[in-house]
Amino acid sequence: MGQEKEIVVSGIRSTGILHLGNYFGAIRNYIRMQEEFNCYFFVADWHSLTTHPDPKELRGNVFRVLAENIACGLDPEKVTLYVQSDIPEIAELYLMLNMMAYKGELEKVPTFKDKVRQNPDNVNAGLLTYPVLMTADILVHRGLNVPVGKDQEQHLEMSRNFAQRFNNRYGYLFPEPVPFNYGDDLIKIMSLDGIGKMSKSENQNSTLFLNDGDDAIRNKLKKAKTDSGPQEPNSAKPDYIENLFTLMRLVSTPDTVKHFEDAFNGCSIRYGDMKKQLGEDMVAFIAPIREKAEALRQDSAYLNRIMRYGAEKARASAAQTLQEARKLMGINFY
Ligand code: TYM
Repeated sequence: MGQEKEIVVSGIRSTGILHLGNYFGAIRNYIRMQEEFNCYFFVADWHSLTTHPDPKELRGNVFRVLAENIACGLDPEKVTLYVQSDIPEIAELYLMLNMMAYKGELEKVPTFKDKVRQNPDNVNAGLLTYPVLMTADILVHRGLNVPVGKDQEQHLEMSRNFAQRFNNRYGYLFPEPVPFNYGDDLIKIMSLDGIGKMSKSENQNSTLFLNDGDDAIRNKLKKAKTDSGPQEPNSAKPDYIENLFTLMRLVSTPDTVKHFEDAFNGCSIRYGDMKKQLGEDMVAFIAPIREKAEALRQDSAYLNRIMRYGAEKARASAAQTLQEARKLMGINFY
C-alpha cells in the first residue's frame, strides 16, 4: 500500500490493420498489465512517417489502431491511451537524446539494415534515429516495463544504453527500460507460410488480421504451411508447425491442444483436422474483436474524446519529465 505502481509504456505504429502478432506480442499483455501497473499506451503515428504514408490514410489508421486496442479490451479509464503526435515533449526529448546517439551504433541496428536493404532509395534520418524516438517515447514517462514482441528486443537494448548515457552525463533521471512479457520469452508469431514474422505489410494471405471475416480466417489457416507429419515419435517440431501449436495454445482449450500434441508425438497427427479446429477456435476469438472495433470506428466523437483525454494525462506526465531533463542539461533560464 502507498507504493507507487511501476510505469509501463508501449506503442503500436499506425500502419494498417492490427494482426495476431500485434495481439499476442503486445496487446494481450497490455490488457493484463492495465490491472496492476500505471500504463501509457499510444499510437505511434510519428514512427509511421518513415514510409511517407498518404495523409488521409494515416488519419484513418490512427483511429483504427485506437478502436482495435479498445475492442481488444483496453480500458481508456484504466490506462492512458493517446496518440504520439499529441505529445510535443516526446519530440523535444528525442532531440536531446539524438545528441547522445552515435551514427555508427544506429547504423548497426538490424532493423535499420533490413530497411536499407528493402528500400535503398529511402534511407532517411528518421529511419536511422527510429530507436532514439522509441527511447523518447518510453523515457518521457520514465517507463520501466515495455510490453513488446521479440522483434523489438534490440531497440530496447538501445533504449537502455541511451538512458544510461543520459544518467551518467547529467545525473540520474531515467530507469533503464526492459522488455516485458507475462510468459518467459518474448513472443514471435510467424507468418502462416512459415516465412518470417507475421506483419502488417508482407504476405497478407499468411497474416491473420483482427478484421478478417470468418471465411478468410478459415481459408488462411487451411493454407498454412505443414508437411507430411513426423516420422518418429516425439520428434522436434519444425518452426512452422510449432507456430500452429503456439496459435492453438493461445485460442483453443487445453484439452484440444493436448489432443493434437499427443497425436503429433504419436505420429498420428492429421494437420488438416488440426487446422480445421484451429480455424473454428480462431473465428470464435477474432469475430467479437472485429465486430466491436467496427462499431467503435463508426463513433468518431467517442474516439476523439478518448484521444483528448489521453493526451491531457500523457502531457502532464511528459511535462514533468522534460522539466527535470532541461534542468539537468542546463536549459532552464527563467
Ligand atoms: P509495431 O507497430 O510493428 O508492432 C506493435 C507491437 O506488436 C509486436 N509484434 C509482434 N509480436 C510478435 N509476433 C509478431 N509477428 C509481431 N509483429 C508485431 C511488436 O513487437 C510490438 O510490440 N517500434 C514499434 C512501436 C513503438 C514502440 C515504442 C514500442 C514505437 N515506440 C515505444 C514500445 C515502446 C513498432 O514498430 O511496433
